[in-house]
Amino acid sequence: MSLIRKLAHKVLGDKKAKKVWSRIEIVGDIAIIRKPPDVNIEDIKAIGEEILKELPYVKSVWCATSEVRGVYRLRNYVHLAGEYRSETVYVEHGCKFKLDITKVYVSPALNYEHKRIAEMVKPGETIVNMFAGVGIFSIIIARKVSLVKVFSIDINPYAYKYMVENVRINKVEDYVIPILGDAAEIILEKLVHVADRVLMPLPELAISYLKYAILSLKNRGFLHTYLFIRADNRGEGLEKAEKTYSQELKKYVENYKLISSRVVRSVGPRKYQVVLDYYIEK
Ligand SMILES: C[S@@+](CC[C@H](N)C(=O)[O-])C[C@H]1O[C@@H](n2cnc3c(N)ncnc32)[C@H](O)[C@@H]1O
Repeated sequence: MSLIRKLAHKVLGDKKAKKVWSRIEIVGDIAIIRKPPDVNIEDIKAIGEEILKELPYVKSVWCATSEVRGVYRLRNYVHLAGEYRSETVYVEHGCKFKLDITKVYVSPALNYEHKRIAEMVKPGETIVNMFAGVGIFSIIIARKVSLVKVFSIDINPYAYKYMVENVRINKVEDYVIPILGDAAEIILEKLVHVADRVLMPLPELAISYLKYAILSLKNRGFLHTYLFIRADNRGEGLEKAEKTYSQELKKYVENYKLISSRVVRSVGPRKYQVVLDYYIEK
């Protein structure tokens, strides 16, 4: 049993702990507890204080009181324990990401995806990351693969500010180009027909922004798209995602091939996040 799970059981007892422990994430030196609707904030605070006592590297504990929402994909937070600070440095795959959990999107659950995509990239590729956040995909790619150029777009000014700083911290200024703005507008303005690979890590815009992703691809290239799908199980989720997205792709391109797909995570009852990897010829 993980330490966090043990702490939750110790503080809340088996029944309540079950609802909470899997909702605890550590980002840098901050612990985040996503509040289940039927557990009160005093109970969450008690776990927060225990985490602070038992995990010396955690300096601050916050409770997320809402789902991810809005254009910037943020949650609402209340401070529970420890230092009153929401900025931290999150480390993933040997890269450092400075960020403020209340101002930008971050999800340690995407850890494997960040590495998986980076491993598919070939030296010298030009990549458009349409929804880059603080630059995690872009920077890991640039650190792992030689001579890439990653146009890294985000519409949230805080995400852009941290992305610029993270590019500097990870010494990839020559390879990652942070851009502030709406991905559709930026692509139309300056990134038509430039990319060997396009990343669309924002399920809410997977369909409506597909035409811009295709526009930014060269005659042939790769597309990695993330979708939310309602389904009874993972297998059905994958099948539905592939079917839905293929219908959309047909509107814009003649030849496309699904090279791989996977369920990234379950995001609610009968709801899954899925990634589809395509090779496309226009
Ligand atoms: C799910 S987060 C991306 C996470 C990031 N790729 C990562 O791995 O940490 C989606 C991001 O898209 C940005 N966004 C939302 N609408 C956008 C748009 N129209 N153009 C560019 N970025 C947008 C949000 O500000 C948010 O940072």
